Amino acid sequence: MKTFTLGQSKKEAVGMIPNKQIKLLQVGGQRICISRINESFYAFEQHCPHRKASLHQGMITDFEEVVCPLHEYRFHMKSGEVKAGSCGTLETYSIKLTDSGLEIEMP
Ligand code: FES
Repeated sequence: MKTFTLGQSKKEAVGMIPNKQIKLLQVGGQRICISRINESFYAFEQHCPHRKASLHQGMITDFEEVVCPLHEYRFHMKSGEVKAGSCGTLETYSIKLTDSGLEIEMP
């Protein structure tokens, strides 16, 4: 497990990810999706486990879910659990907001 930090302060980290949007960012040589609902952050794999659509083009619901843009399967952004649809679990990563930025743990 490796820890990466994005930004250099809480304020900078919050400013990098607009509320209720999904950003595609390079973390540790891998592109991943990072999203935010108020002060809660989520990190998950770029591609949908169903047919590999890019999830950064998806939508976020009020229930901490990402909705895939292609067939509208839904995944919980913390656990990766499939909430609508039939496919494998979404890979998610531990992420937390600290005073020195956004800390993400990658395998
Ligand atoms: S590719 Fe994401 S739901 Fe089919």
